[in-house]
Amino acid sequence: MTLTNHRPDDKAIVRDYFNATGFERWQRIYGDGEVNRVQLDIRQGHQQTVDTVMAWLQADGNLPGLSCCDAGCGVGSLAIPLAAAGARVYASDISTKMIEEARRRAVDNLPAEYVPAFEVKDLDTIAGSYHTVICLDVLIHYADAQVNGMINHLSNLAESRLLLSFAPKTTYYTVLKKIGEFFPGPSKTTRAYLHPEAAIVAMLEAAGWRIERRSMTKTRFYFSRLLEAVR
Ligand SMILES: C[S@@+](CC[C@H](N)C(=O)[O-])C[C@H]1O[C@@H](n2cnc3c(N)ncnc32)[C@H](O)[C@@H]1O
Repeated sequence: MTLTNHRPDDKAIVRDYFNATGFERWQRIYGDGEVNRVQLDIRQGHQQTVDTVMAWLQADGNLPGLSCCDAGCGVGSLAIPLAAAGARVYASDISTKMIEEARRRAVDNLPAEYVPAFEVKDLDTIAGSYHTVICLDVLIHYADAQVNGMINHLSNLAESRLLLSFAPKTTYYTVLKKIGEFFPGPSKTTRAYLHPEAAIVAMLEAAGWRIERRSMTKTRFYFSRLLEAVR
C-alpha cells in the first residue's frame, strides 16, 4: 500500500487555527488590551470596516428589529454593536472558541434580550432567511472556487442585502508577506487568499445582486474591500 501525504482542506486548517493559536492572536487584536504595533494597526483598520458597516446600516434607518446574519462573526466585533442598535442578530462561526468568546462579550455588554443567537457553524451550512447577511474578513481564508460556493450559499440566505469584505488582489500580498507572523504558512496556520474585486463582483452578479455601495479600508497592515450588494 502506498501512503500519500494528506493535506487537510482549508476549512479544517482554518477551524483548527481559530480554535488554537489563531484564537489567542485574533481575540487580542479584536479586543482592547495591549498589543504590538502591527496588531494595533490591524485592530484600528478592522474597526474602520466595522464602523463603515454600522454607518451604512444605520443610515438606512430600519435597523431596529431587522434580521441580520453575521457569518464568521469571530468574537462578535460586528454582531454586538449590531444587536445593541436593535437588530435581531444571528451570528455564527466555524470556531467554538470564537463563539464562546463572542457570547461572553455579548453577555457582558448587552441586556439579555439583545444578546445575539450564537452558533458554532460553518457558514456553508447556515440555514434560514435574513434581511441582511454580512460576512467580514472571512473570504481571505479561501480560494476563489470555495469563495464562489460561499457567496452562492450566503446569497440564498439573504433576502435583500449581502455585505462582504475581502482582501483585494493588490500589493496587499507583499504586505502580508512582510507580516508573515500572521500567516506563517499552511503547515502552521492558514493561507491568505487575495481576490480580484472583478471576480467577486462577477460572482455576486451571477447570484442576482447589484453593487450598491463600496468602501476600502487601508491602513499600514490591514486592507479590506467592502461591498454592499442588493437585489
Ligand atoms: C479574520 S476573522 C474575522 C471575524 C469577524 N468576521 C470580524 O470581522 O470581526 C475570520 C473568522 O472567520 C471564521 N471562519 C473561517 N472560516 C469559516 C467558515 N467556513 N464558516 C464560518 N466561519 C469561518 C474564523 O473562525 C474567524 O473567526
